[in-house]
Amino acid sequence: MKFFIDTANLEQIKEAQALGILDGVTTNPSLMAKEGITGEDNIINHYKEICELVDGDVSAEVISTDFDGMVKEGEALAALNPQIVVKLPMIKDGVKACKYFSSKGIKTNVTLVFSAGQALLAAKAGATYVSPFIGRLDDISTDGLNLIAEIRHIYDNYGFETEILAASVRHTMHIIDCAKLGSDVMTGPLSAIEGLLRHPLTDSGLAKFLADYQKGN
Ligand code: E4P
Repeated sequence: MKFFIDTANLEQIKEAQALGILDGVTTNPSLMAKEGITGEDNIINHYKEICELVDGDVSAEVISTDFDGMVKEGEALAALNPQIVVKLPMIKDGVKACKYFSSKGIKTNVTLVFSAGQALLAAKAGATYVSPFIGRLDDISTDGLNLIAEIRHIYDNYGFETEILAASVRHTMHIIDCAKLGSDVMTGPLSAIEGLLRHPLTDSGLAKFLADYQKGN
């Protein structure tokens, strides 16, 4: 399972990268705005900086909602670095743009996916990644994890190569549940990733080992 961090915060990206388990980064316009990154030039420079910090895929989202605009923006983003994955919204023109980019060998991430039908379309259009937003489904009393299971089932039925990128991951148990369901990738905050480290028996066991070592020295 690949681990992506879902942030535009460079410090958090560096911290996750230093842990040695990071496979990539996802961003979106809200995450960029949260870091105060506004204006085309600053946004482009920020993507370049992120690509320098990590080895893996970096999703960069288009703002356009029409086919021509998405193609123009996506081509410019993809030209920044081979690590860039063009992130496209799950709308009609987004599907067309996905097909366009996949036929050119440019990596894509179809975002804002909330149903199995949308995920099926993304795979048909050759998406590299499909991003079902599990946390936002949970927010409206719908089972986000069930969507991951449905997509896994459908993709396995037909051998689709599109990778399931569980997005809108909010906490550590989401990561574990997505791993059990066979999600190819998850993207979440650093706090959810670091939650995987914690167990009280690890802490008490280590304290005992260290105390016993001190006794003998
Ligand atoms: C995915 O690519 C999105 O950036 C993200 O996971 C959305 O998460 P949120 O629902 O916590 O905003």
